[in-house]
Amino acid sequence: MAKMEVKTSLLDNMIGVGDMVLLEPLNEETVINNLKKRFDHNEIYTYIGSVVISVNPYRSLPIYSPEKVEDYRNRNFYELSPHIFALSDEAYRSLRDQDKDQCILITGESGAGKTEASKLVMSYVAAVCGKGAEVNQVKEQLLQSNPVLEAFGNAKTVRNDNSSRFGKYMDIEFDFKGDPLGGVISNYLLEKSRVVKQPRGERNFHVFYQLLSGASEELLNELKLERDFSRYNYLSLDSAKVNGVDDAANFRTVRNAMQIVGFMDHEVESVLEVVAAVLKLGNIEFKPESRVNGLDESKIKDKNELKEICELTGIDQSVLERAFSFRTVEAKQEKVSTTLNVAQAYYARDALAKNLYSRLFSWLVNRINESIKAQTKVRKKVMGVLDIYGFEIFEDNSFEQFIINYCNEKLQQIFIELTLKEEQEEYIREDIEWTHIEYFNNAIICDLIENNTNGILAMLDEECLRPGTVTDETFLEKLNQVCATHQHFESRMSKCSRFLNDTSLPHSCFRIQHYAGKVLYQVEGFVDKNNDLLYRDLSQAMWKAGHALIKSLFPEGNPAKINLKRPPTAGSQFKASVATLMKNLQTKNPNYIRCIKPNDKKAAHIFNEGLVCHQVRYLGLLENVRVRRAGYAFRQAYEPCLERYKMLCKQTWPHWKGPARAGVEVLFNELEIPVEEYSFGRSKIFIRNPRTLFKLEDLRKQRLEDLATLIQKIYRGWKCRTHFLLMRKSQIVIAAWYRRYAQQKRYQQIKSSTLVIQSYIRGWKARKILRELKHQKRCEEAATTIAAYWHGTQARRELKRLKEEARRKHAVAVIWAYWLGLKVRREYRKFFRANAGKKIYEFTLQRIVQKYFLEMKNKVPSLSPIDKNWPSRPYLFLDSTHKELKRIFHLWRCKKYRDQFTDQQKLIYEEKLEASELFKDKKALYPSSVGQPFQGPYLEINKNPKYKKLKDAIEEKIIIAEVVNKINRANGKSTSRIFLLTNNNLLLADQKSGQIKSEVPLVDVTKVSMSSQNDGFFAVHLKEGSEAASKGDFLFSSDHLIEMATKLYRTTLSQTKQKLSIEISDEFLVQFRQDKVCVKFIQGNQKNGSVPTCKRKNNRLLEVAVP
Ligand SMILES: Nc1ncnc2c1ncn2[C@@H]1O[C@H](COP(=O)(O)OP(=O)(O)OP(=O)(O)O)[C@@H](O)[C@H]1O
Ligand SMILES: [Mg+2]
Repeated sequence: MAKMEVKTSLLDNMIGVGDMVLLEPLNEETVINNLKKRFDHNEIYTYIGSVVISVNPYRSLPIYSPEKVEDYRNRNFYELSPHIFALSDEAYRSLRDQDKDQCILITGESGAGKTEASKLVMSYVAAVCGKGAEVNQVKEQLLQSNPVLEAFGNAKTVRNDNSSRFGKYMDIEFDFKGDPLGGVISNYLLEKSRVVKQPRGERNFHVFYQLLSGASEELLNELKLERDFSRYNYLSLDSAKVNGVDDAANFRTVRNAMQIVGFMDHEVESVLEVVAAVLKLGNIEFKPESRVNGLDESKIKDKNELKEICELTGIDQSVLERAFSFRTVEAKQEKVSTTLNVAQAYYARDALAKNLYSRLFSWLVNRINESIKAQTKVRKKVMGVLDIYGFEIFEDNSFEQFIINYCNEKLQQIFIELTLKEEQEEYIREDIEWTHIEYFNNAIICDLIENNTNGILAMLDEECLRPGTVTDETFLEKLNQVCATHQHFESRMSKCSRFLNDTSLPHSCFRIQHYAGKVLYQVEGFVDKNNDLLYRDLSQAMWKAGHALIKSLFPEGNPAKINLKRPPTAGSQFKASVATLMKNLQTKNPNYIRCIKPNDKKAAHIFNEGLVCHQVRYLGLLENVRVRRAGYAFRQAYEPCLERYKMLCKQTWPHWKGPARAGVEVLFNELEIPVEEYSFGRSKIFIRNPRTLFKLEDLRKQRLEDLATLIQKIYRGWKCRTHFLLMRKSQIVIAAWYRRYAQQKRYQQIKSSTLVIQSYIRGWKARKILRELKHQKRCEEAATTIAAYWHGTQARRELKRLKEEARRKHAVAVIWAYWLGLKVRREYRKFFRANAGKKIYEFTLQRIVQKYFLEMKNKVPSLSPIDKNWPSRPYLFLDSTHKELKRIFHLWRCKKYRDQFTDQQKLIYEEKLEASELFKDKKALYPSSVGQPFQGPYLEINKNPKYKKLKDAIEEKIIIAEVVNKINRANGKSTSRIFLLTNNNLLLADQKSGQIKSEVPLVDVTKVSMSSQNDGFFAVHLKEGSEAASKGDFLFSSDHLIEMATKLYRTTLSQTKQKLSIEISDEFLVQFRQDKVCVKFIQGNQKNGSVPTCKRKNNRLLEVAVP
């Protein structure tokens, strides 16, 4: 949303009137009252058209903040309440945008706030103009020139603690963009008399106090100064300290400012040396010394000070000393030297001090100019700021006041000229008829002062240059003659005797009727001050100084450039510089700031009407207002005018569609404003009387109130309506929500109640059904129980009956049997006695045997032949039968078991049986062999390719193939051999190669011997004389001894039909070639573990130790 622009006007919230052009009625009293009213409300600025009146508030107001700068930036002059910023902005903008050079003329009496105003203008312009490093440096230099000039040119006076004792005009130069480029400062008429003498309660220039307070000890030593103010004659002591002013701090500020402005260190040093020299000059004192010719000659009392000054300034002491004692007057070729008396010496000293200081000040201004001058040659736009002393009317007015007031007359003249010119131009521009304006033109007063032939300044110069005795009185006489007829000149002794009896006009005075009032001038000192003489000897002495700065300050002291013509007088100099200034100002667009001092006490909140009235008078403010509203008091462009007052007429409110001018015409017609009260210009409406404007304003205010009420009414209506609608809407929403909530809650309640009731009913129903079912069940159960009981009773009754019947039947049968028995026994008694016993016995026996067998049938044990179980015998007499039965059963089950065997199994068992017959209970090794199946060919020759040859060599079936240890009969050691048994042969072969070592036909095997012990040694005895027996019997050891012996036995039996003899003994003989060796088995020690060892004991004995 575009920011809504609020159009404001100077006329808004006005206190008194912001623009005194609108003052009605216009007189001194209303002007002062208006200023007072505004001053009391902190409105220190008031306009007279475009002129700003500023009343010194003597306290800091919060109206110069950066925010304020922004407020006034780019705003129309009459848009906001009067302010110095508005004027600055107007000036800066028309300089920048319309290419019009500007000047800002600030006037007012001492302490009215001119210097402050000039600083405010500069700071505003600095704040709104361009930015950037270079621009900022220029700004900074321009701003910092102020503290330097104030230190050297300002002093505390009774009117102002920081009174500018010189006039200052500063041109600030800008480029086409409005960025500052530099500046030029001109100074006017420094009050140099202050250097040597200050009125009571005032001080010398600030710099002297600042130097003594702020300089370091070292610097003071260098400058040969002491910190004590009282040491210096030139420093007034009664007000050496100013309240709220810190001289030492200011000294630092000044030095810093000098640095920023661009002073070199040595320049600062030189400047301070000159200041020190001036200060010390005041301490030179003279004493009279009578000379031969009876005249008094002055001599310096104490030369020490002189010496130090000379050291400081590099002047030859004798030269300076002489310059203080003699005065050389040169006329044409002649040089006349006269001695100076004490008074003249003091005059010379003070003249030197004043000159030195004022020239130093001018030098400073030039030096600053050098620094701040614009560096480019491009065309510049200029804004001049003139801070010059305002009109001065004291009790004793002297030459200075005369000069100053002259300057102000000139400024007033230029103001009149420019204002009227502007006014006229505006009328032409706006096509408004020009009517003559009555106003006071002060050109006549200016003429009285500056006229070259009979002006006061010309007369003064004439007197000063005239040969012969010239005094202030002669000058007054001259004026009395020349100016007597001038209507603004008044003197007691003037030719026309108008003032002969005017006692308010002393004889030694003349009075001028300035535009701002009458001023009485004392003629005393006019001639001297105008002459401003410095004896040539002194200027020459200065020129001879070794101090470069001092030398440069006195160029006229150069003997080579000796000029016998008198230097221009102070008056003519000033007149010339004022003329230059005026010329300068005339080329520019003027802006006026008129400063007013509200009281003499430098106090805030005090508005001394008498004092202000005095200033209003001499500032010519009434005159200002009159000139300003000579034709029309108020003018305004059509657009803002229509905008401001359009609400006063129905046709223009709220919007006017046509051109603004037509709108204003309609508006004014409607309001019936008399035609002579206004004129229509091209772009502005001109209102003749403020009354009319105020009428408009009043109507507007009233209308605004009505409008405000209307707006308020509509707004309130709207607000209430919207509020009501909102409330209603909210209420509906809330009600809807509440109803929903309430219904929900109710529904929940009903639902839960229903559930409860439902559950109760269901529970009750269920319990009822349960009860019924239980009842039914109980009934059924009862019936059953009753039935059961009934049946039970019936059954028991029946049973009882049957039992009874059976018992009866049984009893009958028993009785019957007894009876029969009795009958039979009676009948058969005779037979029974002979056989009955035997028969009963047989019958009973038969029955018992029968029972035994029947029982045995169920008691027989399992069919496993090794099952040892057998039922115990029931009767002793059946013992043998019982054993027999056990044996038969065992045989039978063995047979059963055997019948399951295959042929091969049978063979194996046969072999095992054979082994059992051969070794059971004979050889201790036997039991361990029972569990081992006889495998025969342990060594599978067929499968091992190593024994292929061996296998090929044997054609018969192999019964045993096993590795055995063959015992060497010579030493008992053993060698592994393959033991092979075939159907017909016994073969021994090498275990490694498979080569057959021996082959014995079974027919040649006669016996096998072995021990009864748990070893595997056995000897195979061969038939004596057979081929195989040549090497003797074999002695082997094998793990399968039992199997081998059995198989050898069985094979031999089946092949040879002879039983092989098997000898089991712990000592047997073995044929060893021709000898028989005894193999003896002994129970050996456990040394070699469980392996039997074989050892040859001697030729006949081979001992085998069996563990
Ligand atoms: N706008 C202001 N706001 C606050 N104080 C102000 C203002 N203008 C002036 N003063 C006060 O008044 C004193 C005097 O002002 P300033 O030095 O500007 O007077 P002046 O007109 O230059 O006097 P002179 O002619 O003696 O130089 C300032 O030191 C300051 O204390
Ligand atoms: Mg000042």
